[in-house]
Formats: sequence, C-alpha cells, structure tokens
Amino acid sequence: MKILMLGDIVGRPGRRAVTGCLKEVREETGADFVIANGENASGGIGLSAKNARELLNAGVDVITTGNHIWKFRDMHALLRKDSRIVRPANYPAEAPGKGLTYIEKEGLPRVAVMNLQGRTFMHPVDCPFKAAERELEALPEDVVAVCDFHAEATGEKQALAWHLDGKLAALAGTHTHVQTADARVLPEGTGYITDLGLCGPWNSCLGMEPGPVITRFTSGLPQRFVPAGGPVILQGALFTIDQSSGKATSASVWSKEIRQ
Ligand SMILES: [Fe+2]
Ligand SMILES: [Fe+2]
Repeated sequence: MKILMLGDIVGRPGRRAVTGCLKEVREETGADFVIANGENASGGIGLSAKNARELLNAGVDVITTGNHIWKFRDMHALLRKDSRIVRPANYPAEAPGKGLTYIEKEGLPRVAVMNLQGRTFMHPVDCPFKAAERELEALPEDVVAVCDFHAEATGEKQALAWHLDGKLAALAGTHTHVQTADARVLPEGTGYITDLGLCGPWNSCLGMEPGPVITRFTSGLPQRFVPAGGPVILQGALFTIDQSSGKATSASVWSKEIRQ
C-alpha cells in the first residue's frame, strides 16, 4: 500500500491547490492514504476549524500539525472532537486533542498516525523520544504506524528516525517548509525524509511574501507576513509499505507544480 505525506500547507493558495487536485494526485501516485500537515493552512499561521474541514472534505485522511496549531480557538474544540486531526503528542496532557490517531480503510491494514514536535530551536515541549516510545508501546501489533515529526533541526529529526527505525513504516519531518533530498528506507525498514517541504506559494520565503520577511531581517522589527501569490508547489514524500511486515519498501520525494 502507498502513503502520501504532504508538507506544511501554507495559506489559501496551498489549501486551494490541495483541495483542487487531491483526487488527481491520488490517481497519479496511487496513494491509499494521504496525510498532510495543516499548521499553516489558515493565513500562513495556524489552522481554523473551517479550513481543517475543507481539507478533510477534499479527501485528506489525517491532518498533522505542529507549533502553530493553537492559534485559532475553534481548533481547540475541533481537536477534542475530530480524531482526523492530531497535534504533537509531546504537549502536556492538559492540551486539547491527541498525538496519535488511527485511519481505517476497507481491505487495508489500520494505519496509526503519530505527530511529534522537536525541541531544538523551538518552544520547549516534553521529550519527543520518550513520547514516541510511550505512544508506540501502546500500539496494537497489526497496525502500520507513521509519524510526522514537526521539528526545526535536521539532526534531531534524523536521530528520532534512527531511534525508531523498524518500529515505524515511515517518519517524515515537517516545519521547515523546505523539502530535503534524502528520502530513503533505513536499514530496519522505516521510510524516512528529513522534511516533506511546502504545499504553498513557490515564489516565497517558506510560503510567505518575501518583502516583509526581508524587512524583518534588515530592520529587526516585527512584520506582518502574508502568503505570497503566483505559482504553487505541492511537496511531500510517497512511501510504499509492505502490508504484512508494516515496513517500507520504498520512499521517494514527490512534488507537483500548480499554476493558479
Ligand atoms: Fe509550518
Ligand atoms: Fe511549524
């Protein structure tokens, strides 16, 4: 079976591209499951309940998130209610929602989707390594488990992937919005990529209009960032999973350019 994981969806352009061509993308890739990071889907920062529903209605099976998930209040309620959206598992138990969920489809093994957040150059959270161990220990034997590790540092992402090699079908990094060229299957069978990349405006700084980003660097003053215009790119990785072993047989970078 095939699992397509998509990088951070940024703003309306990213949302439109995903919702508009997901059917076509499924056909092209043969993906049985599509998992997308939605933490930047509303205005470039955060995810509103309305926009989350749009993505789910368009056929995204599970939305993973990250550090920006808490921006919209209505998402807090939706996280409690809709198990198709996860937030990083290593937040305190008091935070709404769950860090691991299951997807079921007829004729296919049950898929567990875990979300974790890194701690290097990021807001402090609980240890992602320990949280992953705890979540995976509670997993039934027959599930295919994948993880979106939302983290800044490449080393932290690689370290977690090596730590969990053989326990997951796939581990994909998100958060940097820059796709890495290192998709591969680790020796014990975990498909891996350091970062899935961006689903959003391509002529941009991480999906946002470059001007205010440049001004922030040159002046040191806070700026309002807005999603950029122009062509959109969808980026991610496609994992082929052996159903009987629950391990990856291939991992490849995936991307598609879209003119809007
Ligand atoms: Fe992001
Ligand atoms: Fe992030």
